[in-house]
Amino acid sequence: MRILNYGSMNIDRVYRVTEIVSRKETISTTDYVELIGGKGLNQSIALTLAGVPVYHAGKLGEDGRFLKEYLAEKGVNTDFVLSSSNVSGHAVIQVDQNGENAIIVHGGSNHEITEKDIDLVLENFDKDDWLLIQNEISNLDYLINRAYAKGLKIHLNPSPITDTLLKSSLNKISTFILNEVEGFRLTGKTEIENILSDLKLRYPIAEFVLTLGENGSVYYSGTKKYFQKSFKVEALDPTGAGDTFTGYFLACRFRGMSVEESMNYASAASALSVTKLGASNSIPTFSEVQHWIG
Ligand code: RIB
Repeated sequence: MRILNYGSMNIDRVYRVTEIVSRKETISTTDYVELIGGKGLNQSIALTLAGVPVYHAGKLGEDGRFLKEYLAEKGVNTDFVLSSSNVSGHAVIQVDQNGENAIIVHGGSNHEITEKDIDLVLENFDKDDWLLIQNEISNLDYLINRAYAKGLKIHLNPSPITDTLLKSSLNKISTFILNEVEGFRLTGKTEIENILSDLKLRYPIAEFVLTLGENGSVYYSGTKKYFQKSFKVEALDPTGAGDTFTGYFLACRFRGMSVEESMNYASAASALSVTKLGASNSIPTFSEVQHWIG
């Protein structure tokens, strides 16, 4: 039983600003740094730091070769990270003085993943294996259908949510890890209880983890519901907090922990991640999380 994460890798260009820029406005930054991110890459790092070996599949341009080296250094298997002649995916991220962010993503090579690439990667995986996906790569629906046909268990973080994603074969997903905005886009409901019950009606085979920011998170399987409180921290940068939560929750479940323990670790890890600037570099190790929660 192995985890394959087929997902994006981005160069994160992070601009510290006093306030996030408004329409028609020009502002200056107070600081600039280039970091390593992408929802896929961040989730692979979270999985591996939480103690679970992960295979990362995706595509990078020449300018993003260092992202592959970074993944490998952290212990992620990069055999399925392919090369592209396009630019790599990258993100322009503003982080303001209140610890809020705004992100623009350019898909680049993340959007060059072909059906053939997917077939070649999936040849190496089988039923019993888990597939983790987000929504920052091309041909996601093809990937879902091929992986499902092979019997892989598919876990989706439906982020960022798009009309194309809404038309995908989401009935083949085993676990959704999503936030309230994504819950609303999937169901049209705004109340937590209504989002959860509507999700279950639409996707009966799935279980759900709905994150609620500082209000905690909820697990719902249809028969079991569990609420996890959030950990209070001084937030510096929320970038990658959802990815940290997703990677930690799945890693803990993969390691055989209960839903309750997994929610607790995921919540603590994502809280710790927002105390540092950046995405992948702000994800704590399992022992840091254990030490922090005591
Ligand atoms: O979830 C955070 C990530 O979203 C950033 O690392 C950025 O690359 C975008 O993909």
